Amino acid sequence: MTIRSVLTGTGSALPKRAVSNAEMAQMVDTSDEWIVERTGIRNRYIAGEGETTSTLATEAARKALIAAGLDAAKIDLIVLATATPDQTFPATATIVQHALGCNGGIAFDVSAVCSGFLYALGVADSMLRTGMAKRALVIGAETFSRILDWDDRTTCVLFGDGAGAVVLEARDSDEADAPGILATRLHADGAHACLLYVDGGPSTTGTVGKVRMKGREVFRHAVTNLADVLREVLDDTGLTADQIDWVVPHQANARILDATARKLDLPPEKVVITVDQHANTSAASVPLALDTAIRDGRIQPGHMVMLEAMGGGFTWGASLIRI
Ligand code: ACO
Repeated sequence: MTIRSVLTGTGSALPKRAVSNAEMAQMVDTSDEWIVERTGIRNRYIAGEGETTSTLATEAARKALIAAGLDAAKIDLIVLATATPDQTFPATATIVQHALGCNGGIAFDVSAVCSGFLYALGVADSMLRTGMAKRALVIGAETFSRILDWDDRTTCVLFGDGAGAVVLEARDSDEADAPGILATRLHADGAHACLLYVDGGPSTTGTVGKVRMKGREVFRHAVTNLADVLREVLDDTGLTADQIDWVVPHQANARILDATARKLDLPPEKVVITVDQHANTSAASVPLALDTAIRDGRIQPGHMVMLEAMGGGFTWGASLIRI
């Protein structure tokens, strides 16, 4: 008997405050034209007082549970991807677990920055398929605004806050066309840590630190790494790019999305894009975009959906799901 992790619900959450490019131009020396032309970003959401990674994650998780028709008490695994936890410890996943009232199961955070959701999905899928848990919440949630240097125009215009969540349920599935996660590939290369990092931490400076990035180099690596890992997942499943219904990429920059799609001959209309509305929400961006495209009816049951992301570390990965 084959066990597959089936995606049965999605949800997302955004802070109340939307911040346009025009508003950003009042804070740093930038313009709507520069931001749109270089990144495709038009808007981002910024967490206010009382809005934290755990509150956004909990709201997204509740919506995902409703979509799955599942009581929170049935959840026995929470894997939460974040680079901006509420506190250094405990894991934000445990705060979410308590808020949802499903105490007693497994709950922990994973740290892989913008690829965090792909890593969390891979870990949860493995745990469901080996029988360690039956029903999981996989969450990507960030309040990146809290680690931005608001005087650095090269980074602060790029990011936003938010959360996305999916419910995964272990199902017996021997039929070839059964839904579920079909393949996941994850990678990391610590040699490039200096291109995208936070300049602080509990064990070094004793401070939280701010995001630092060499954007041009990150861009170059992102396109190559993402195209390679997408090919790996296609090879693992024996599928070709034209059999993919939707690509839901990490929403870093519209130009990275275009360049990656071109490398694989994927038509742009198959790529879900939300970076214009949400900016780069790091670990939250893939599940936020996935929830958007499921709720607006683009992604339908039976569709083949490729998720992919790349982030600090570097870390990168892709996962193919039949919905
Ligand atoms: N407004 C106006 N001008 C700006 C701004 C800004 N916000 N930021 C930089 N500039 C200026 C620079 O100072 C530079 O000026 P100069 O030529 O006088 O020195 C000029 O614009 C060009 O700067 P570049 O950094 O070369 O611009 P580039 O075309 O590479 O675009 C960007 C920068 C958008 C950051 C791009 O490199 C990028 O998207 N990289 C990927 C980074 C990324 O998305 N990281 C997220 C995490 S990793 C991931 O998710 C894949």
